[in-house]
Amino acid sequence: PSFGSMLVNGLTKLGMPSEIVESFSRLINLGDNYPKIPEAKGAISAIRSEAFFIPLYELFLTYGGIFRLTFGPKSFLIVSDPNIAKRILKDNSKAYSKGILAEILEFVMGTGLIPADGEVWRVRRRVIVPALHLKYVAAMIGLFGEATDRLCKKLDAAAYNGEDVEMESLFSRLTLDIIGKAVFNYDFDSLTKDNGIVEAVYTVLREAEDRSVSPIPTWEIPIWKDISPRQKKVNEALKLINTTLDDLIAICKRMVDEEDVQFNEEYMNESDPSILHFLLAGGDDVSSKQLRDDLMTMLIAGHETTAAVLTWTFYLLSKEPSAMSKLQNEVDAVLGDRFPTMEDMKKLKYTTRVINESLRLYPQPPVLIRRSLEDDVLDKYPIKRGEDFFISVWNLHRSPTHWEDADKFNPERWPLDGPNPNETNQNFSYLPFGAGPRKCVGDMFASFEAIVAVAMLVRRFNFQMALGAPPVKMTTGATIHTTEGLNMTVTRRMQPPIVPTLDTKKLENMESSN
Ligand code: HEM
Repeated sequence: PSFGSMLVNGLTKLGMPSEIVESFSRLINLGDNYPKIPEAKGAISAIRSEAFFIPLYELFLTYGGIFRLTFGPKSFLIVSDPNIAKRILKDNSKAYSKGILAEILEFVMGTGLIPADGEVWRVRRRVIVPALHLKYVAAMIGLFGEATDRLCKKLDAAAYNGEDVEMESLFSRLTLDIIGKAVFNYDFDSLTKDNGIVEAVYTVLREAEDRSVSPIPTWEIPIWKDISPRQKKVNEALKLINTTLDDLIAICKRMVDEEDVQFNEEYMNESDPSILHFLLAGGDDVSSKQLRDDLMTMLIAGHETTAAVLTWTFYLLSKEPSAMSKLQNEVDAVLGDRFPTMEDMKKLKYTTRVINESLRLYPQPPVLIRRSLEDDVLDKYPIKRGEDFFISVWNLHRSPTHWEDADKFNPERWPLDGPNPNETNQNFSYLPFGAGPRKCVGDMFASFEAIVAVAMLVRRFNFQMALGAPPVKMTTGATIHTTEGLNMTVTRRMQPPIVPTLDTKKLENMESSN
């Protein structure tokens, strides 16, 4: 036995309280029995301008599935190993909180579902998950189609005029329009016009992203936080969003009060299927700050993520014309010129694989953040409470140990007739929507939203990188953005529309109903 363990045994025999012996034993024993977590040397600088998860990939190849990274007074444990990710996110998830993420997002999300921990999170998760039931998601497919159709009209005009388009900002507007209607029945109409509220949402979003990559929290500095023009603008934007939310909640409450419907699991108001309507009908209090926090959380969670997925999907497709034509063939055959329906979601198999693969190569967000609330052991390493973790989904998704040709866009890597890849069937090497109790509540919503948008857009147009466009580089806030936009040339597809194969039963039904 080591000197440490002899000493601990001795102290226990002498009747020293077990907690003290335990902490003492940790102090002296760790070096004896446990290996030390590898420590990455070298500064990670310029985090603001460079996508910070890129240098983390090189460090992962050098130091392995868990290593410590220190810059200034801060130290993080970077996790790129699927088993460790599984322990933190699922098997021992109760021992971890959202840590710095909750601190950064407090100003906009309060204790909304993403930053919330403990009892607040448990209670709200139970209230919110049922709101996204199957019938709701099915109703949303119509909304995805209508919004994408508005984008198609915009692209039609650009194609006709021979103007290049910056797709990243258009995708951001598309998903903002969708999430506004879906969460609180509000029409931002940002694809058509700019207004104060749209600008306010972007001001707040940029601030959240800047704070998440800022090494110094200038927004906490007393006095400065009240007089800096930038913080003033942020506060004004928040005020406008909150007033708008208050109005929407009041309008919705009036509708709910006039209704004569029993609230149940599959409750949905056909004229306003929004999540807000479900929550108020289910008994949420109109004056609650928690309700506002959750609505803001879903607005942000559902907006930039899906926009980023669409941006990188079109970037990848522009580099891989064979995947694009396969995709277009599928959409021509399944949809023709119809709007997609719930049933099509199962049939658009290759489209789904394209999204799966885009989410593998460009996970949104590229890292998950946690803090240990208790001591734990990860792999062979003891971990103290209070450690901050970055689980690099980017590294998991591109790990050369787990993926063949990890950097290649290859939707064919999962067979079309096989199950959709997820964290379970990919053994935690694939976590596009997180995992465990904190997994995304909008995963099905978002997947169908992306499928509808991609299908309708590629059905109507060909997309190419614009001539002379700057090379597409990554930068990051909460999601992965391009540095200078995704500039594309859009052209109408010229071939005559292919009539989709109709199943005869449907045809008979249609005829008999006429
Ligand atoms: C959580 C990804 C769309 C609402 C998460 C997490 C991920 C994720 C990775 C886990 C975060 C963590 O563990 O720290 C995505 C992606 C989306 C998307 C890639 C689009 C493609 C949406 C949409 C909504 C939504 C549309 C709302 C309608 C949420 C919420 C949580 C969450 C509320 C927190 C759940 C909890 O902590 O209990 N999302 N999301 N997401 N997402 Fe999504």
